[in-house]
Amino acid sequence: MLKKRNRQSCFNFLFLSILFGLVPFAALSASLDSQLKTCTYCHGKDGASTESDVPIIGGYSVEFLVNNIKAYRDHERDCPDTKYRSGPDKGKKSSMCQIAKDLKDSDVRQIAVYLSKKKFVRAKQQFDPALAAKGKEIHDMYCEKCHSEGATQAKDDAGMMAGQWMPYLHQALDEFVAGKRPIPKKMKAKLDEVTPEDIDALIQFYGSYH
Ligand code: HEC
Ligand code: HEC
Repeated sequence: MLKKRNRQSCFNFLFLSILFGLVPFAALSASLDSQLKTCTYCHGKDGASTESDVPIIGGYSVEFLVNNIKAYRDHERDCPDTKYRSGPDKGKKSSMCQIAKDLKDSDVRQIAVYLSKKKFVRAKQQFDPALAAKGKEIHDMYCEKCHSEGATQAKDDAGMMAGQWMPYLHQALDEFVAGKRPIPKKMKAKLDEVTPEDIDALIQFYGSYH
């Protein structure tokens, strides 16, 4: 008798699940899977990019990721041409704006939550120790307030420069200086105070983390 009731409740659950759309929900997560796979073709497994012009994105905060993916989707952030590094479209031209263009807000959030739980794997790269030491002083003076503990904290929601690829950082800072990417007014004010040589030193400092 009890068994029979169990079977009945199992049936009821299935029926209600279909009624309330749990089945389409399963289909959505399959498409999320394929979107996340697309990211790996350039950003590497779990966002741990091994390409020096593609940023490491695993381990960034949800807020930073959501803001930046939406900024590409909504063309608020410049998106330079790039190409697929692996996968079925290897070598094909694309850009972050193209990649993000069809993502709904709910997709963006789910992708961001997934990536935020991954480890930020610092790039192994050559740096100049003397310039890096100078860069640390400049960082402490102009950048530490928002990029705390030497730009190592995801919770600042400001990216993490410590261990990020240096060629990518160069490009990012050029975009900020040229006004092609939105930044807080106070960061723009600090960037206006530093010289191009200071920026080179800052990048060496961030590259010195391994
Ligand atoms: C065809 C290669 C390619 C693919 C595929 C790709 N990206 Fe990117 N992504 C890049 C490049 C190159 C940049 C740096 C662009 C720039 O300078 O603004 C970038 C930048 C980003 C940034 C900004 C990071 C930062 O530090 O500011 C985020 C976030 C991002 N991508 C997320 C994603 C997500 C999520 C996916 C999958 C849905 C994805 N990308 C797929 C190449 C790619
Ligand atoms: C008033 C706070 C503030 C100050 C000061 C500041 N920043 Fe930022 N910075 C931010 C925020 C917020 C972001 C994230 C913007 C976004 O979401 O695109 C950011 C983003 C960045 C990024 C992009 C990271 C990435 O992964 O794409 C770089 C590089 C950067 N800042 C460098 C600097 C440097 C170098 C200094 C000092 C000269 C500095 N910032 C000072 C707030 C600040």
